[in-house]
Amino acid sequence: MRPTIFVLALGVLLLPMLAASGGEFSRRRGSVVVAGPAPDAVTSFNPGPGIPLRQAAENRGLLIGAAVSPEGLREATYARVLAQEFNLLVPENAMKWEPIHPKPSVWNFGPADRLVSFAADHQMKVKGHALIWHSQLPGYVASLSAEELRQAVREHIQGVVGRYRGRVQAWDVVNEALDGPNLRNTPFLERLGEGYIAEAFHAAHAADPDAVLFYNDYGCEGLGPKANRQFALLRALRAAGVPVHGVGLQMHLIAQAFPCPEEVAANVRRLGALGLRVQISEMDVRLRELSCSEPMQLQIQAAIYHRILAACARERGFDGITFWGFTDKHSWVHQHFGADQPLLFDTEYRPKPAYQGVRVALQGR
Ligand code: XIL
Repeated sequence: MRPTIFVLALGVLLLPMLAASGGEFSRRRGSVVVAGPAPDAVTSFNPGPGIPLRQAAENRGLLIGAAVSPEGLREATYARVLAQEFNLLVPENAMKWEPIHPKPSVWNFGPADRLVSFAADHQMKVKGHALIWHSQLPGYVASLSAEELRQAVREHIQGVVGRYRGRVQAWDVVNEALDGPNLRNTPFLERLGEGYIAEAFHAAHAADPDAVLFYNDYGCEGLGPKANRQFALLRALRAAGVPVHGVGLQMHLIAQAFPCPEEVAANVRRLGALGLRVQISEMDVRLRELSCSEPMQLQIQAAIYHRILAACARERGFDGITFWGFTDKHSWVHQHFGADQPLLFDTEYRPKPAYQGVRVALQGR
């Protein structure tokens, strides 16, 4: 990934638009789209004139998803916005190994079940996340011998994928197996060798032959050594007949250093040419390091969401985008990187300029 730092240039592009737009959509010479209304002009959940994101995505044949927690669903507005705006639900934590399978013979399916049934009730698809990942792993996994671990991986995948067969349409099978341009040193690599990646995909395919199986990683969004390594890994897996069907580009961004949209599009193109579906899988855009005013920060954020998605949506292999949450009220960013405003809706569920930027990108404008 080659981060492109062009906030200054964006600022120059955005300023005349802000001045001219008066809170309306504005577009000049097809460059950057920014969108209003000003954050304080909206008082309740109302995406403004125009169709919900879900409909805009469906008109384009795309999935539009959000990472979701069962606690969130207890809030009426959270549930309402989720069902209205998104057609794909991704459990943020509930299907990770530790929460769902904390001990060899203990399974905790309740929270994931609640998410899956919410999705079914609202005609949303589900992408399960994440079967094999070095993080949020229960302690017992680290103490297994190679043979025990191989068996545990098979049982874990069979147990989770098998339970949701027919109700969860896609899975992140292997998450973050790369550490820079190298394979990440995890208990899986250390004990099972690099074949663990292919083994995990075969196990998921055996558990649900209809599921769409993804490799998911971060820092591989644009072009660069890690993205090249990811491409080589996926090309090798495909050449070996491993059932990997898609790739997720996480896209956790900081506003002052985001990947060049044209490079992301080129990456989507080459991955698509391997026969893979390509998704943006966990997008959020952190603002807190920007030194400009809050309205300007929000416009820059909108422009980043818009530019990246518009560039990807033109590529044939691209089939959707998932945001890592949807309201600034609930985001992993606050705990992991400090209080921020990384998502499409503010803490009161009012759509932000980023929301409008995403919708315009989905509408191909
Ligand atoms: C994050 C969750 O959002 C947090 O709640 C949790 O504490 C840690 O994991 N990449 C991934 C996601 O693939 O699973 C991570 O989710 C964010 C980074």
